[in-house]
Amino acid sequence: MKSIYIETYGCQMNVADSELMLGVLARDGYVQASSPDGADVMLVNTCAVRDNAEQRVVGRMGELQRHKRPGTILGVVGCMAQRLGPILLERVPAVDLVVGPDGYRNLPELLAHAQGGLRQVDVAYRSWEHYEEIPQLRESGPRAFVTVQRGCDYRCTFCIVPTTRGPERSRKLADVTREVAGLVEQGVTEVTLLGQTVNSYHDGTDGFARLLRAVGAVDGVRRIRFTSPYPTDFTPDVIEAMATTAAVCEHVHLPVQSGSNTVLKRMLRRYTRERYLEVLGELRLALPRLTVSTDIITGFPGETDDEFNETVSLVKEARFDDAYTFKYSVRAGTPAERIKDHVDDAIASDRLNRLISVVRTQTRRHNVGRVGEVHEALIERPAKRGDMMLARTRQNYLVLVDLPPTAVGQYRMVRLTGTTGSTFTGAIEQPALAVLS
Ligand code: SAH
Ligand code: F3S
Repeated sequence: MKSIYIETYGCQMNVADSELMLGVLARDGYVQASSPDGADVMLVNTCAVRDNAEQRVVGRMGELQRHKRPGTILGVVGCMAQRLGPILLERVPAVDLVVGPDGYRNLPELLAHAQGGLRQVDVAYRSWEHYEEIPQLRESGPRAFVTVQRGCDYRCTFCIVPTTRGPERSRKLADVTREVAGLVEQGVTEVTLLGQTVNSYHDGTDGFARLLRAVGAVDGVRRIRFTSPYPTDFTPDVIEAMATTAAVCEHVHLPVQSGSNTVLKRMLRRYTRERYLEVLGELRLALPRLTVSTDIITGFPGETDDEFNETVSLVKEARFDDAYTFKYSVRAGTPAERIKDHVDDAIASDRLNRLISVVRTQTRRHNVGRVGEVHEALIERPAKRGDMMLARTRQNYLVLVDLPPTAVGQYRMVRLTGTTGSTFTGAIEQPALAVLS
């Protein structure tokens, strides 16, 4: 029996893609290995969004190559593979295989050739590719990621994703709902719909509003999340569908990138600060308990102190519950690479640290105020440390609860008893006891 070890970096779509690759290879007789030791094939599924993500992979590949025996294949897949293609073979002699996000269907043949001693590269774009009939090999559990859209047609000037993942395309609505129904049969009750601009989903007939309603109508689906939406694709009908589909959770992750209109313009984001806040207002009106997280970049070319301060003020004005903050990383071939006015690294780092501190303080304040609330929580999995279980509320707070592993998959009412500032501890609210006569 051949075995495959796969390591995943980057976004949730990469997690879903790794499950897909395991599915492709399971059909070819591979079994999954839990460590690189002794595996016949080692794959690293990579991210290309920032240079530090790539450097981590390069470092990791150095370690993985020590596990190589004669005949072992080391492959690089995902966005960094797509971005660098044959250059990876030149730079890293231990690499036998380079495959981009549209090439996973061919993995069995590519691996067979590589095992025959021919180093392989497949970075062709296949804009029709949805891997429709290939069953993903998912970890069992109550949650699943479902890719509904691949690629991206937006052209944010900092971003490499349109190059690494090709043009935007959506799966057919009926294919998505069929997959979701199948997942429910395997015990899934929470699905996260994935796409780079997921709310611009359109399959030629139906848009994102219809998709939300259709997934919400699948028997057994109790929670729907989606990531990541684009601000201006929250049309009134999408917001209406969110508000009226009971399974849609009260949380959005809505990347803003900057609070300055001039920076947003240079980034080619298609909204202003004011429009972004208006969209948030519309969402909060429709879903009053909504929590909001975001992505922010500091040190984008030309960013002045004043422009940065507008980002700080937006974090407060938008009342973000959480934010993923990044220092701008120049990506070869992106339009922003040509903007001359680059921000000194020390200044960008300083802004990043200031921003992180503003975000932390605000998140902590929000979360301290939530202690005492009672929420429905899905018990997801054992926590990494200790013997508590990790649970998640609809608004996306993580809560540690004292339950046995057999509780995984259950929905329980949980009282928030404390917070570290970012996560919570919680106590199970016992169901009301029947009155004994
Ligand atoms: N549309 C995708 C974005 C993928 S990239 C999605 O929302 O899922 C994820 C985040 O990485 C972006 O929102 C952005 O904040 C950050 N990012 C992208 N390119 C970057 C770059 N060149 N430097 C720093 N951060 C970047
Ligand atoms: Fe990247 Fe902008 Fe698309 S951030 S993935 S180009 S929406």
